[in-house]
Amino acid sequence: MAFDIEMIKKVYGTMAERVDKARELVGRPLTLSEKILYSHLWEGNPTQAFSRGKDYVDFAPDRVACQDATAQMALLQFMHAGKKTVAVPTTVHCDHLIQAKVGATTDLAVANSQSKEVFDFLSSVSNKYGIGFWKPGSGIIHQIVLENYAFPGGMMIGTDSHTVNAGGLGMLAIGVGGADAVDVMSGMSWELKFPKLIGVKLTGKLNGWTAPKDVILKVADILTVKGGTGAIVEYFGEGATNMSCTGKGTICNMGAEIGATTSTFGYDDSMRRYLAATDRQDIVDAADKVADYLTGDAEVYANPEKYFDQVIEINLSELEPHINGPFTPDRGTPVSKMKAEAVANGWPLKIEWGLIGSCTNSSYEDMARAASIVEQAVAHGITPKAEFGINPGSEQIRYTIERDGIIATFEKMGTKVFTNACGPCIGQWDRAGADKQEKNTIVHSFNRNFSKRADGNPNTHAFVTSPEMVAALAISGDLTFNPITDFLINDNGEEVKLNPPHGDELPKRGFDVEDAGFQAPAVDGSNVQVAVSPTSDRLQLLAPFDAWDGKNITGAKLLIKAFGKCTTDHISMAGPWLRFRGHLDNISNNMLIGAVNAYNQEANKVKNQITGAYDAVPAVARAYKAAGVPSIVVGDHNYGEGSSREHAAMEPRFLGVKAVLVKSFARIHETNLKKQGMLALTFANEADYDKIQENDTINFLDLTEFAPGKPLSLEFVHADGSKDVILANHTYNDSQIGWYVAGSALNLIAAGKA
Ligand code: F3S
Repeated sequence: MAFDIEMIKKVYGTMAERVDKARELVGRPLTLSEKILYSHLWEGNPTQAFSRGKDYVDFAPDRVACQDATAQMALLQFMHAGKKTVAVPTTVHCDHLIQAKVGATTDLAVANSQSKEVFDFLSSVSNKYGIGFWKPGSGIIHQIVLENYAFPGGMMIGTDSHTVNAGGLGMLAIGVGGADAVDVMSGMSWELKFPKLIGVKLTGKLNGWTAPKDVILKVADILTVKGGTGAIVEYFGEGATNMSCTGKGTICNMGAEIGATTSTFGYDDSMRRYLAATDRQDIVDAADKVADYLTGDAEVYANPEKYFDQVIEINLSELEPHINGPFTPDRGTPVSKMKAEAVANGWPLKIEWGLIGSCTNSSYEDMARAASIVEQAVAHGITPKAEFGINPGSEQIRYTIERDGIIATFEKMGTKVFTNACGPCIGQWDRAGADKQEKNTIVHSFNRNFSKRADGNPNTHAFVTSPEMVAALAISGDLTFNPITDFLINDNGEEVKLNPPHGDELPKRGFDVEDAGFQAPAVDGSNVQVAVSPTSDRLQLLAPFDAWDGKNITGAKLLIKAFGKCTTDHISMAGPWLRFRGHLDNISNNMLIGAVNAYNQEANKVKNQITGAYDAVPAVARAYKAAGVPSIVVGDHNYGEGSSREHAAMEPRFLGVKAVLVKSFARIHETNLKKQGMLALTFANEADYDKIQENDTINFLDLTEFAPGKPLSLEFVHADGSKDVILANHTYNDSQIGWYVAGSALNLIAAGKA
């Protein structure tokens, strides 16, 4: 489990030289974000200044973390890279596949039996390739990363959008798709558009009922769910240094809810305290030597408007507790306004459940402060009006709060302690009665509250707030309750006023744990067998995709001309298909089933040109593949927008699609197609989209001359024998053409040529 202090010292060892060089090239003082970016360039020492929001830059992250749902395909692919071990320290965390229903012990046993083959696979492949493996029940990826691996000034990527949580310890931690993780694990660079920078100046000090959570709830209210897109949010000011490190983690965690690339804070005493408390004094000693490089330059924070693309200022002394929702995390309501808002909008006022924990709010401080509210309710003889549940972020947290009597306090209120896992936060909540789809209200301290996210019921109104506010609201059972001004009525009919919450930032007796749930990898994994049953319907070893035969593609059939929006969800749907994320053949049965066929305006109904019959897209693709007939997909604008899911590129590749020709691509999907050995092409003339007909056969005329910057010519032969030659642009550079020639980027890595 030990963090890699040598790796960290190496990062710090080059930091001063690289940052000083960057400052010289950029010609002005630097933000913390820029210092971390410029000190993690793939090329090493900076040689040029980059334009924010414009330049694509190759980086060298220090670490990778994967959760169990996304790790499956990532590791199946990594196995093809032909490496003995991962190139950078990597961990896998089993947290998403565990349902919350009865309580931790039973729920964990059920998950261990239902997802045994997935956990066994992840465990064995981790063991083989030098990856740290965190077993089911050990905790939630981001909490464990904060407790064990995050370090100031570092850069990491993770296959989960809330990887950004590690910004609480002064990192740049960024959520990515599996394909990016595979690249970094395989020793390749990682590309990112140099982000824009949003500065958030925090003045004053949190007090009373206000918590770090309220900072991000306020920021989300200001910036909305899209306001952070393409930007890093950097927090600074006395309000930031006055706050706990784990509170900073909560703020960074929910940066994902405003679409930010990531968020971060400068190195300070709160981080020193947290690192020391989590047994990492070594990092403090190393970080202190380069402390000036682990925070923004003083001039930047003195005149932020000059250096950030946007600046927001929040006075923590005046900030009110917020309750955000329902259905979106950026709908912010200060607690004093909730009554009027809730009544005006007809939101159900009765609260059914309060939930705390998750990767967002699982700190000792969070638990202690929420427990201080419960303690008061118990002391005053108040029977809570709503049910209450916790999913602790890690076994270390759970064990420590149990030792310190905090769990016992919660249990006095009949609280259910679920497994140290995502549970209700990812919809893994078997909530009794949710299937009746009744209108109801819940409050939680998680991060997301989109429709159906917690319990699958589209009528559950979920509100996000701090753990202490969740406790107060759940006790009152009333969404309009304002603990700052209102009284509760105890079981004797007396009025009771709750005092503001209090709690230690860190446990006085230190953290403790008996079995953290970590499995260290084998020192030499070469003889470790990877466990995949050939009869499994959830996992399937991948076979390498075929290399290009060096010839023009001829006789290809049009599989689908997609009309309008075609996101990665249209190409590879989520929901029930998540189960097959580790089984390419099975998950390919969802390929493009959400895309609308331009000829009949229907989804998942395309013509099989061999039989003339209409069928589902995957069925037609399989028919062409079986007949040895290549196929191509045509699409509209921004094809493949949405997530970075690599399945959306792997499935067509697997089902014999050779090229995707569209008006424009979402960039990540375009890159994913390239990595999987597909041709990602755009119409040189957009109007040519209209020339493509349902019965077309396609011949490539000059693929044999595939070269950077040179458009390709495709001949579309129509049913009546007439032809259109269409020019297709592409953005392949030399090395990406190498991926195509080899059959995939991984094939090239495996051949030792990348
Ligand atoms: Fe898990 Fe929810 Fe965090 S799904 S990783 S607890 S956002």
